[in-house]
Amino acid sequence: MEKYAIKGGTPLHGEVEIGGAKNAALAILAAAVMTDEPVIIDNMPDVRDTNVLMQAMESIGVKIEHLGRHTIKLDSSNLKDSVIDDEYMKKIRASYYMIGALLGKCGRAEVPLPGGCNIGIRAIDQHLKGFRALGAVVRIEHGSIVAEADCLHGNHIFMDKVSVGATINVMMAACMSSGKTIIENVAKEPHVVDLANFLNSMGANIKGAGTDVIRIQGVSRLHGTEYTIIPDQIEAGTFMMAAAATKGDVLVKNVIPKHLECITAKLVEIGCRVIEYDDAVRVSASGVLNTTQVKTLPYPGFPTDMQPQMTVLLGTASGTSIVTESIFDNRFKYVDELARMGGCIKVEGNTAIITGVEKYSGATITAPDLRAGAALVIAGLVAEGETIIDDIKYVERGYEDFEKKLQGLGANMIKVTSDHDLNMFRLKVVM
Ligand code: UD1
Repeated sequence: MEKYAIKGGTPLHGEVEIGGAKNAALAILAAAVMTDEPVIIDNMPDVRDTNVLMQAMESIGVKIEHLGRHTIKLDSSNLKDSVIDDEYMKKIRASYYMIGALLGKCGRAEVPLPGGCNIGIRAIDQHLKGFRALGAVVRIEHGSIVAEADCLHGNHIFMDKVSVGATINVMMAACMSSGKTIIENVAKEPHVVDLANFLNSMGANIKGAGTDVIRIQGVSRLHGTEYTIIPDQIEAGTFMMAAAATKGDVLVKNVIPKHLECITAKLVEIGCRVIEYDDAVRVSASGVLNTTQVKTLPYPGFPTDMQPQMTVLLGTASGTSIVTESIFDNRFKYVDELARMGGCIKVEGNTAIITGVEKYSGATITAPDLRAGAALVIAGLVAEGETIIDDIKYVERGYEDFEKKLQGLGANMIKVTSDHDLNMFRLKVVM
C-alpha cells in the first residue's frame, strides 16, 4: 500500500505551481457531455477524482482523447447510455453531476445514489427538488436516482440550503430547459462561476453566477468550445498553510488571489506575511504564530475544505484557538490522528478547541479523507522525527504530484510502496 514518509522540521522554500481546480473540473467534465460537438478542456488536473469521472463518462460512450497531461478533448456525439455504473459512484461522489448533465441533454439519467461519506451526512434533497421543479420525474429505484423528463421547463427555484452540488446540478439541467429559470440562494464558490462561464462558452445563457441568484434562459442546443479551468483554490490554500506551518517562504504561483482572500486574511491575522501579486501569493512566517477563531462558511467565507489544514496550523500557535465547522457534521475525525502526533485539540460538537503545542512529534497515522490527509502531511512536515501516513489514496483524489511539489520546496518526503523504499528514505534523510 502506498504511504507518505516524511522527516519533518525543514522550512519550505521556493516556488510551487498550482494546477486546475479539481471541483471545477468535475463539474465541467460532466457538463461537456451536453454538446455533440468536440470540447477541449485545458488545465485539467491529473488527479484520481477527475480520472474516475472520465472513466465513468467513457463507460457511457464519451470519447476522451488526452492531448497532453492537462489537456483533453471530449466527443459526446455517440452517447450509448444514460446509466452510470455503481462502480464509479462508489469511488467518486461527483458522478452525480451526470444527472444534471444527462437530464438536460437526453431527458433521462440513472445514477446510483451516492453512499455515505467520511465527513458526515451529505444530503441530495436540494438536487432532487431542483430537477422536479424543472419538470423531471425523479424516483429512487434499486438504489439509483432515476430522473426523466419529456421536456424540461424553466421555473423559479428557492434552494433551502446553500449547496455547491445542487447549484451545479440544477444549473446544468436548467440551461437546456425551455424558458427562464431563476435559482435563488445558490452557492457562489469559484467553481460554480467557472462552470457557468464554461456553459456560456458553449452557448448557454446563464447570468448571476457568483451572486445569490442565478438566472438562466434555456437554449435548445449547446456547441463545442475550448476552455481553461481556473486554478485550484484549495490546493493553493494548502501550500499557503504548509509554508506558514513550517515557517518557510513560498511563492504559490498560478492562483487567483481574490479566491484566496479568506485564507490570506486568517494567515495575516495570526502573524504570517502574505504578499499578493497578479497571479501569485507569497507566504512566509517566522516565530510563534498567534491564535484566532475560524468558522467555515459558504464562499466567500472560510472554506470547509481548508478547515483541517487551518486546524493543524493553529495547533502550533501560542495559546487557544477555536475552529467551528458549520458545513459538515463530522469533519474532525483527523483530530485523533493529530493527537498521536502530540496535538492538543478537544472537539465538542462542531467546534474544535485547539491548545497550541510547541511542536508535533512524528508518528504513524492514517489519512481519514482528502483534505484531512493533506493537513496531516502538513503536520508531518512540521513534526520532529518521522511521520508515516497511510491511506494516501484519499490525498491523491485531489492533489496532483503532492509529494513531488513538496519535495520541490525542500520537504524531506517521499511516497513509498514497500519497506525497501522506506529503508532507503531513512538512510537518505539521516545522511
Ligand atoms: C462541494 C465540494 C466539497 C466542499 C463542499 C462545501 C465538489 C465536488 N465538492 O461538495 O469539496 O467541501 O462543496 O464547500 O465541489 N446539503 C443538503 N442538501 C442537498 C445538498 C447539500 O442538505 O441537497 C448539505 C450538505 O449535507 C452539507 C451542505 O449542504 O451539509 C453543503 O453541501 P454542498 O455544498 O452540497 O457540498 P458538495 O457539493 O457535496
